[in-house]
Order: sequence, then structure tokens, then C-alpha cells
Amino acid sequence: MSDIGSGPYGTVRDAVVLVSAGHIEWIGHEADAPEGAVSSARETIDLDGGWVTPGLIDCHTHLVFGGTRAVEWERRLGGVSYEEIAHQGGGILSTVRATRDASLDELVRSARGRLGRMIDFGTTTVEIKSGYGLDLETELRMLEAACSVRDTGVTVSPTLLGAHALPPEFANDRSAFVDLVCNEMIPQAAAARLADAVDAFCEGIGFTPAECERVLHAGSEAGLAGRLHADQLSDLGGGALAARAGARSADHLEYTSEAGARAMGEAGCAAVLLPGAFYFLGETQKPPIESFRSHGVPLVVATDANPGSSPTTQPLITLNQACVLLGLTPAEALAGMTVLAARVLGFDDRGVLRAGLRADLACWAIDDPSELSYWMGGAPASAVVAGGHRLR
Ligand code: NIG
Ligand code: FE
Repeated sequence: MSDIGSGPYGTVRDAVVLVSAGHIEWIGHEADAPEGAVSSARETIDLDGGWVTPGLIDCHTHLVFGGTRAVEWERRLGGVSYEEIAHQGGGILSTVRATRDASLDELVRSARGRLGRMIDFGTTTVEIKSGYGLDLETELRMLEAACSVRDTGVTVSPTLLGAHALPPEFANDRSAFVDLVCNEMIPQAAAARLADAVDAFCEGIGFTPAECERVLHAGSEAGLAGRLHADQLSDLGGGALAARAGARSADHLEYTSEAGARAMGEAGCAAVLLPGAFYFLGETQKPPIESFRSHGVPLVVATDANPGSSPTTQPLITLNQACVLLGLTPAEALAGMTVLAARVLGFDDRGVLRAGLRADLACWAIDDPSELSYWMGGAPASAVVAGGHRLR
């Protein structure tokens, strides 16, 4: 995709991308390339008719966690719902137990393995949330683990999701837990530069809109951007709350009302669609895509990689699900995991292929960009470049 390109993808055919010092130095038709630039390049990648896209930007993941929830998933297949399991002390809280038990090293090792698989499929920027610690020490350890996987070459944007579930030790004192999130977790994560954003789970099994509003407010006081898990299982007005609080996005949104979509459009709050969770939880209520389109709400797509509702490390399957399950066009889905996802994370130096921007590139052995969401998974990227360095 490029400013100089055409069609829904901004295609440039027979193109050359020149990279220097980590950035795109020039992009355009091969015939117009600066004289001798290609023949004198230190390293070249010949795509042999393949395609280059911006490196994929996965703006909503929970990639750091202990354990899995495979056994719980078997119970769900037997008819027990996600919410019932949560009410029985399982769900998010079972991953909290496994994460509290895991050392920093163990968290880093398992997250790095999952991130490696994402890199294979073109991801060069990833947001990673905490939220399986629910105490100060483990939340910070999760964020530290998220920052540690930067050694892969991928850009990591960490998000503090302290208000993800109420931990058992606060079962009788919700407001004391929200105090802990607002008065300790957020300021400490911000001071240690371990978080770029805050998030909260606005839901019956999570936190009330008023509690989430406090968290978003504390985040903005600390200079952190806002995100919100909103309207996933019921309509609590989370989309409108995110808009009102100036959050960059509201995420999930299966139950968002027309009024919520309008408020998001007016506030410039993006809709982050998570079709992996919609699929894996067997949801039937779809996010109001047409309302988002009509109110000019950016449609963003992310994997939501996590052990409970979206155990995936495969962004291309997510693109396929966004089209097949939620009705996005392949071009919308790709924009939702590149240029529009960059904005949700506050990056203005990536997400499109343009001279001067970061050289984050994914190369694909495909004949048409629609294949990125056509194959249910497809082949790994043929090459991946982040900040000018080859990751694969
Ligand atoms: O984005 N909805 C809340 N949080 C996660 C799921 C977390 C879990 O089940 O472990 C989500 O779907
Ligand atoms: Fe999530």
C-alpha cells in the first residue's frame, strides 16, 4: 500500500522499496528508481512477483500469560458457558493463578515463542496487555516480560490491564481493588515506563462503567492512552464510555448500540474488532459493522491472542475471520491490521509504505493481496523486515 498506489490497497505494481538506516528511503515503480540504487544495494530481497505490505500491526493481544485453558475449553464444548466458568472462579482467574506462579523468565520464554510464530506471519508491531496478575507485583512482572520480548526486533507497546477481573482477595471490596489499580498500578507502571496505555474490562464479569471510567481517568492523569474491552457479552454502554473518556479505541463491541457507534464516530474512537474471540466463544451477535461504517468509525482488526477467548498466534486467520464472520472486505481487514491499527497505538511512523516511514515490511508469495485473508491461515511470510532488519 502506498500513497502513490491505486485501488483499494493502494497497489504499486513492479515496485521497488529502497531501505536505508531503518527507514524506507524510496518506493515506486522499478523503472523510476534512482539510478544504480538497486544494483548497488548491500542486500536485496527479490520477491519474484510476490507482494510487500506494511508489517502487520496487532494492536490487541494478551501474549504474556502462564498455562493454557485447554481443559476449560473442553468443558465449554460440553455446554458450560464462558461466563459460568468465570463465575465458578475459572476463566481469567485460572490464568491469573498460573501467571502468578510463573517467573519472569518463564513468562518471557513462553511469550517469545508465541511472538515468534506471529513474526512468521508478518507481525512487526504488537500491543501486549497485562491483566493476569491482578496484584501490583505480577502486573509489573507481566509488563516487564512484554518489554523483554523487544529483543525479537518487534516493536512492543505494553498496556496495563489491571482492571481485567476482580481477584479473590478483593471479592468483598471492589472499590479497594479499583483504588489499587488507579493509585498504585497505573502510576508505578507509568513511572517505570512499562506501559503506553491503560485498559479495563467493562462487563458484568468484569468492571462497571463507573469503575472503568475511574481507570481511564487515572490513566490519562498518568499520561497513558486509553483502551477499553467494551460491550463484548452485553451492552453496558462501553463504546460510548470509551468515546466520552477520550480512549483511542473500544474493543470487541458485539453488543454496541447505534448510539454507542455514533458517539465513537464523533469522538474519533476506533472500533477494534476481535473476530478470534467472536469465533472461539461461539458468539452469534455481531458487532454493528454497518453502523460503524456509517458513523466513520475506523474498523481495526486484531488477534486478541489470549488463552481463554482467542488462543491464536496467526494474524492471517484473524483477517479471514474478519471477512467471513464479520463482513469486512479483504482491503478493510488489511487496513485494520496496518494503517488503522498504527493509529490506535499512537504510531505515525508505520502502517503504510511511504518514503520516510519505518521499514517494517512483510513479503508474501501471493498473486493478489486478497489472498492474505482468503487462505484460512495461508503460508508464512516469505520475508519480514522490522526497522530495516530482517527478522525472517
Ligand atoms: O479480550 N474479555 C476479556 N479479556 C480477554 C479474554 C481474557 C481471557 O479469557 O483470558 C478478551 O477476550
Ligand atoms: Fe482482549
